[in-house]
Amino acid sequence: MTAEFVSGGPEHTEQVGAGIAALLQPGDVVVLRGDLGAGKTTLVRAAAHALGVEGPVTSPTFAIANSYAGRMPVAHLDAWRLGDPDDEELGLALESVGPDAVAFVEWPDAVLHGLPQPRVRVDIAHGGGDTRVLRLDGADPGTDASLEALCDDLRARHRNA
Ligand SMILES: Nc1ncnc2c1ncn2[C@@H]1O[C@H](COP(=O)(O)OP(=O)(O)OP(=O)(O)O)[C@@H](O)[C@H]1O
Ligand SMILES: [Mg+2]
Repeated sequence: MTAEFVSGGPEHTEQVGAGIAALLQPGDVVVLRGDLGAGKTTLVRAAAHALGVEGPVTSPTFAIANSYAGRMPVAHLDAWRLGDPDDEELGLALESVGPDAVAFVEWPDAVLHGLPQPRVRVDIAHGGGDTRVLRLDGADPGTDASLEALCDDLRARHRNA
């Protein structure tokens, strides 16, 4: 089942990122899809900070992968420019993904075959202006239920704001 949340601005998307972070354990992978400027990095930055990463979290488009030390290692990959990676590029990109780290992967499709099954899949669509439609899918019913609860909780918070 897909949980859906309509984000009205970057701070809403950040709340989704922090909520997803709370569900993650070492070894988990989160993949993020959506057009340029959809808010993937915005979500990952908030998730990384929620996992204890201090300091700036910037888009790794040119580095392909950034690694951070939070309460657990946090990897942030952006495979956008890896159109059709060879084995070496794929290996380099995936070096920071492993059983001890939590990994967030933007534009994951080129590297998907090298990744463990993602715990959470995030799809972000532009909805006009600052509106974004976020769709969240979990790898298992428990994760789906948690994602549904997260979206319900955020909707309630914003209704009462
Ligand atoms: N509701 C929203 N959620 C997230 N970002 C938003 C929202 N409304 C406006 N923005 C703005 O959109 C931009 C999103 O940029 P971001 O780098 O997070 O996108 P991205 O999906 O990672 O893009 P890319 O594919 O280039 O990596 C930011 O400037 C952010 O402030
Ligand atoms: Mg990005």
